[in-house]
Amino acid sequence: MMPFDRSVKIAPSILAADFADFGAECRAVEAQGADWVHVDVMDGHFVPNITFGPQMCAAIRPHVRTVMDVHLMISPVDPYIEAFAQAGADIITAHVEAGPHIHRTLQAIRATGKKAGVALNPGTGAETVENLIDMVDLICVMTVNPGFGGQGFIDMTTKVQRLRAMIGDRPVHIEIDGGITPQTAPLMARAGADVLVAGSAVFKGGSAANPAGYGDNIRAIRSAAETALPGRVA
Ligand code: DX5
Ligand code: ZN
Repeated sequence: MMPFDRSVKIAPSILAADFADFGAECRAVEAQGADWVHVDVMDGHFVPNITFGPQMCAAIRPHVRTVMDVHLMISPVDPYIEAFAQAGADIITAHVEAGPHIHRTLQAIRATGKKAGVALNPGTGAETVENLIDMVDLICVMTVNPGFGGQGFIDMTTKVQRLRAMIGDRPVHIEIDGGITPQTAPLMARAGADVLVAGSAVFKGGSAANPAGYGDNIRAIRSAAETALPGRVA
């Protein structure tokens, strides 16, 4: 993992990539400027969709040189933490809604030596992570209801601002997940987010064989977000 910083980071979600060619897709987005690779794990129970599990994460690991950011949309979480750690995740994020014992889950993630993240659905308030703030490296604010790519952005500006104030000087990232585009990214960066997950908005109009479009898409989101930061001239 790279040292902590609050610069804008773009994390393409491979949920929008070619599922038959994840290795090439990961290499392509990184070559085109992705900072992290976001990996969406869904179980058909916590969310109404199924993607893939730890074996797939292990298979793509050799193709990810930056940060493998694993977003677990599964319940229960605890029985699978070790498998995702073994698969080579750098960050393992669990949902606060996934069970009654998120504190224990975060302890278990940290015990593997991996970075720990906590995710909040749109209907979940910032106060739910107040007692977890010293046990996490990342707070993921969902700006869609999790389960599918390509959904419309739900504005969580107030929640992000509250979390940013709660975090203060702690080395905790705020990640935004869902509906991020060059139009929505600036709102979230201005509110205090530093990691922007984007699926459809990165993978549209390109392919692993013809990846220039990925680079254009990543640069468009990044520059829109950076322009919105305080102290920048639009
Ligand atoms: C939603 C996932 C997101 C999703 C983002 O359940 O957690 O990571 O892939 O996709 P877009 O950017 O298309 O909303
Ligand atoms: Zn995600």
